[in-house]
Formats: sequence, structure tokens, C-alpha cells
Amino acid sequence: MKFLVTAGPTREAIDPVRFISNRSSGKMGYGIAEAAVCRGHSVVLISGPTALPQPTVTEFVPVVSTADMLAAVMQHLPRAHVLVMVAAVADWRPRIELQQKVKKGGRQTYQLELEPTEDILARVQSLKAGRLHVGFCAETGDPVQEGRRKLIEKGLDLVVANDVSKPGIGFESDMNEVTFLFRDGTARSTARTSKREIADALVGIIEGLSSASS
Ligand code: CTP
Repeated sequence: MKFLVTAGPTREAIDPVRFISNRSSGKMGYGIAEAAVCRGHSVVLISGPTALPQPTVTEFVPVVSTADMLAAVMQHLPRAHVLVMVAAVADWRPRIELQQKVKKGGRQTYQLELEPTEDILARVQSLKAGRLHVGFCAETGDPVQEGRRKLIEKGLDLVVANDVSKPGIGFESDMNEVTFLFRDGTARSTARTSKREIADALVGIIEGLSSASS
């Protein structure tokens, strides 16, 4: 199968030296890309900025902003059998990117006006056809309830939900504990285990969904 995987955070520039981003390390997405390669699939990995070494994939596409990531997804999507959106896409960007560094200038407060970024999964929903679309849902509230909402709203085949408020798993960690939420309303939870093991389980599930739909 041809996998298109996104990973890591996106960054939205405030000025030439500052940006808005999030705590995503890229480990989960890179693990999925590596697991898919190990299982004989071709993988295009679109990655926001991470501190990880570049994995051995069919094609590695580095991006910075959400708009860059959307453009790269649109370019590679037509050839993909499955899109796995692991990236922690920044939801907001400064309405204006300043060309000069913001100076303190004696101000006591500084207001930044934000506008929403593109929702990549929502944008590609109408282009889905027979492709499998997989989303991630990292929540501090109720990941299963939120995951089910995103599954329907973004027209996904599978959502991988996890609770990022639990200590020792999720953002920046090598470990994770997730619930796979399926289109038919069923769910399957994993034990707390390595991101690489969860990646392997996910690729196996995707293979199963793909053979069931073909
Ligand atoms: N996602 C996306 N484009 C965005 C934001 C998120 O494609 N602008 C994708 C993520 O890669 C993930 C899924 O949508 O696979 C869910 O992301 P999440 O941040 O949990 O949810 P949001 O859609 O941002 O919704 P909310 O702010 O309500 O949590």
C-alpha cells in the first residue's frame, strides 16, 4: 500500500524570530512511518520541525507551517491509498506575520490577533473516494467522545484517541496508550506500551481495513 503520513507540529510565525507551535515531538508519526516501511509499504512522510533523525522512508517532505503541510498533502494525496494525519497541526496563526522583530518598547501587555488555520482533514474529506483516512485525537478531556465526534465530522475511517493529561504518555514521551475508534462504532484500547508497538498495531489495523474494503 502507499501510505501518506504527517507528523510533528506545525509552526505559525509571529515575526522573524518567534512562532506559535505545540509540544508534539513527531515520535508517534515517525514510528508509524517506520512500521509501515518495515511491513513492506511505500511511505511519504510529511513532517513539521522535529529534533528526530530523518527516518528511512520512500520520500521525506519537510514543512513548517500548516499552509505548507496542506500544500504537501494535496500534492501527494492522489497517489496515496491511506492518509494518516498524526501531525499536531497548529489550529491558530497570527493574523499578520510581522516582517520586523517585535520590540518590547516599554509595553506592559501585548495582544496577538489569531485566525484559524486550514483544517487539513476537513479539506481533503471531499477528495477521499476509496482512500482510507485516519485521524489522531489528543485530548485532555474525554478523548473517546471527542474522537467519535471527529470521526464523523471529518469523514474518517479510524481515529486514534489518547488522553494527553495522563502522566508519562503522549506528547514528547516514548510511550502511549490509545483507543482505536472505528467507523462501525466499535473501539479497541491498547495497554500502555511503546509508540513503536502502537504504530505496528495501527499499521496492522489499516491493512485489515484496506483488505476488507477491497
Ligand atoms: N487536523 C488537521 N488540520 C487541523 C487540525 C487538526 O488535519 N488544522 C487533524 C489532526 O492531524 C488530527 C485530527 O485532525 O488527525 C484531530 O486533530 P485535533 O487537534 O485533535 O482536533 P481539531 O480538529 O483541532 O479540533 P478541536 O480543536 O476541537 O480539538
